[in-house]
Amino acid sequence: MADTRPVLVATGLTSGIGQALSKLLVGTWRIIGASRNPPAESGDAGDWIRTDLSVPGLAAAAVTEALHSRKIARVQGLVHLGGVVFSDQAVATTGYEWEYTMAVNLRSAFELTTALKPVLVSGASIVLVSSVDAKMSSTAGPAAAYGAAKAGLNGLMRHLAAEWGRDGIRVNAVVLGALAEGMGVKHPATEAELLPHIALGRLGTAKDAAQAIRFLLDPEVSSYITGTEMVVDGGLNISY
Ligand SMILES: NC(=O)c1ccc[n+]([C@@H]2O[C@H](COP(=O)([O-])OP(=O)(O)OC[C@H]3O[C@@H](n4cnc5c(N)ncnc54)[C@H](OP(=O)(O)O)[C@@H]3O)[C@@H](O)[C@H]2O)c1
Repeated sequence: MADTRPVLVATGLTSGIGQALSKLLVGTWRIIGASRNPPAESGDAGDWIRTDLSVPGLAAAAVTEALHSRKIARVQGLVHLGGVVFSDQAVATTGYEWEYTMAVNLRSAFELTTALKPVLVSGASIVLVSSVDAKMSSTAGPAAAYGAAKAGLNGLMRHLAAEWGRDGIRVNAVVLGALAEGMGVKHPATEAELLPHIALGRLGTAKDAAQAIRFLLDPEVSSYITGTEMVVDGGLNISY
């Protein structure tokens, strides 16, 4: 029987957030995941693409080829969750760290969104996963390259939203604060240091992040939302 589910292309599904997102969407979306490692919760065996976001053009070419070989000509969703952070002060950031951070977080987003534009249907939604580090710095976890890459991602989001709105394609960013899962647990900023600055008094969960992404993907509930930064941080950015 033909698979009539909308198609979602997503990077970063091997992460805690990605796994939470897969759990929320499995059954309602056909998920094509692109990452270096197989996702634990892909939902559909065989729809995982092994690729490396740090290599110029590789992920965009691999995803385009995978869609072609599966005879998928219409894509309804794209989520860029893949990301990497090096927690260094600016002066300690090496050229390699800068380039790698830009490649995985930002350049691959540009390459994937533009490569998939021809197959994104009217009504499609793109969600780019960003960070409060795009807006503010933490003395507990400085990350100059990461903050610059995520700020670039927010800028890319606004330009794509403006350029593609007339094509019926929505583009938004989910701007995450400090989560207790995923790269948040590798961050040197400890829970004790961050909690006093979080209005809701707790770190976020992968599910908190995944629910925001699902909301922006779903045209039933967010069809008039584009070009926006949805901040999901428990109020971290409003107190100091
Ligand atoms: N967790 C937080 O506190 C937090 C806060 C703010 C923003 N975010 C953002 O949320 C997103 C997910 O982060 P996370 O917390 O879930 O981090 P994570 O657990 O470290 O996961 C990172 C994801 O990115 C993928 N990835 C990293 N380098 C890659 C590469 N070179 N090629 C292909 N895929 C690569 C990984 O897949 P493979 O290793 O399998 O390739 C993995 O799925 C990121 O964009 C991050 O910036 C997270």
